[in-house]
Formats: sequence, C-alpha cells, structure tokens
Amino acid sequence: MKTIKWPVKKQELQSNHFDSTMWNDFKFRDDDIVISTYAKSGTTWVQQIVSQLIFNGETGLPVAEMSPWVDLRVPPKHVKLPAIEAQNHRRFLKTHLPVENLNFSPKAKYIYIGRDGRDVIWSMYHHHLNANDKFYEALNESPGLVGPKIERPGDSVVEYYHEWLDKDGYPIWSLWDNVNSWWAIKDLPNVLMLHFNNLKKDMPGEIRKIAAFLDIPIDESKWNDILTHCSFEYMKENAAESAPLGGAFWEGGAKTFINKGTNGRWKDLLSEEEAAKYDKIASEKLLPECARWLKTGEY
Ligand code: A3P
Repeated sequence: MKTIKWPVKKQELQSNHFDSTMWNDFKFRDDDIVISTYAKSGTTWVQQIVSQLIFNGETGLPVAEMSPWVDLRVPPKHVKLPAIEAQNHRRFLKTHLPVENLNFSPKAKYIYIGRDGRDVIWSMYHHHLNANDKFYEALNESPGLVGPKIERPGDSVVEYYHEWLDKDGYPIWSLWDNVNSWWAIKDLPNVLMLHFNNLKKDMPGEIRKIAAFLDIPIDESKWNDILTHCSFEYMKENAAESAPLGGAFWEGGAKTFINKGTNGRWKDLLSEEEAAKYDKIASEKLLPECARWLKTGEY
C-alpha cells in the first residue's frame, strides 16, 4: 500500500491579516471541515453550502460566526480559539493560507475553491474600496501587526489590478503561492477541489459532490430549501448571516460583501493586452493544467 506523505508546516506567515500560529494551538477533531481559498473566490458561498448540509436546510444560521477565519489575526488567539473549542456542532472553518503555512490534519476534510484571478481582484477591489474605518483600524491598529499596514485602494480598479500582478498579490498576499500549494495536494483523499465557475454552472451537482465528500446524506425532503438558501439572491437578501461580522466592516453593510456574484466584469475595463498580462504571468507561475483549471474550472 502506498503511504501518504501528509503536508507539514514549513513556516509561519504573519502579516497585517495573517497569524498562522493560530493553527499551532488549534485542537483538531476528526470530523472538522476546512474551507480554503486565496480570498474572494467563493469562500462564503461554500461556507453557506456546508452549513446547509450540516443543518439540513435550516434558516437563520449565523454562518460567519459559526465558521470563523482561523488564521485572521483578529480577534486574538485567546478570544478566538476558546470560541471555536466551545462549538459542539460539526465545525467548518475558514483559511486563506497556503498549505505550507498550515498545520494540516490527515483526518479533517479540506475544500479548496479556485477562481480566475481577474475575477478575484475585481471582487477584492470592491471589498477594499468599500471597507470602512473600522476595517482598516482592526487590521492596522490592533496588537500583533507584522509588516506594513494595509492601505486603502486608489480610485482605479485597473491600477489596482496591475499593482496586484506586479507586486505578487499586493495589497494582500500571493495568489500563485496559494494556488500552487493547494494544487500540489489536490489528490489527497481528504482534499476536494472546487471552482467558482462550476458552482455557477451547476450548483446542485456541486452541492451533491460536497455532500458525498463530507459523508453527509442529503435529506431529499429539504433539497429545495438547501438550493434556495445557497442561491445568490437568498444570500444577498440575508447577507448579514454570512458576511463577516454581519457586514459591520463595509459601507452599505453585508450586502456590499455579497456583491454581484458574476464573473468577467474585468472584460469591459481591461484592454486585450492588459487581460493577457494575467495569462502570461499565470503561465509562468503555475503548471499548465493548474493555470487552465484556475481560469476555467476544468481539468
Ligand atoms: P463578487 O465580489 O464578484 O460579487 P469570498 O466569500 O471568497 O470573499 O467571495 C466573495 C464572492 O463570492 C463575491 O463575488 C460574492 O458576490 C460571491 N458570492 C457569494 N455568494 C454567492 C452565491 N450564492 N452565488 C454567486 N456568488 C456568490
């Protein structure tokens, strides 16, 4: 029998957002679920789907609170970890770390969601542009900041895009490191790779795939409820349940966080050459099949 080489943490990642040491003191349970993305790739959507599967189509679940971003450095460890430890439902946690910075459990189940970087960065620009003072204060003024503060974006999404590409993920973190690390472990038995495009194309099919991966039988009498509660319209209408802190960090609240749910908005604003710059860098940084998957969801 082939022995599996499980990932081990190679180094910590600490920044204005991250404190990967959170995971060092985290006590895994065998049925934990970890939902992972670079960011702005459908994390909240999959958190909603998983919550609907665990709680069989219930409404009114405070999903963001139930499914915290473990490696976000606020609130601090002594507040965050006991709250997670006190949960007595099947836990479903969020991470934006590359695999190298995680304490990886062979028993937990990991769901990774990919999205074309141009869609990600259009979503991220909106996220940062509409973040309020409380957002920037929480990241820049609370104890434990490592490295530079996070700056408010300027008024051009196109400039934001170029800077993100030119400075390997500025103002957050590297897309390429994140995607490469998850792509490298995609065949592990406890890793499921999803893509935003496939969730858009066939949400029912993707939900069934997630349910099978998590060993959660679907109660067919609740199937339509589950689908309704995972639709963009429902999530937008009830955004305060799924957006972090009920949307308190954004002008316009939670509905700003659940923004449009569409791809390709960059096509109207980037010239062909500007859009191709992304493809060129992706082809240099990623394996060809990984670049193709990230762009299309196909592999
Ligand atoms: P846009 O900003 O492009 O609208 P994350 O949760 O990783 O931060 O990703 C946020 C993106 O997922 C946002 O994209 C948001 O609108 C989209 N999203 C959230 N729920 C969705 C749903 N049910 N259907 C489609 N898109 C959804």
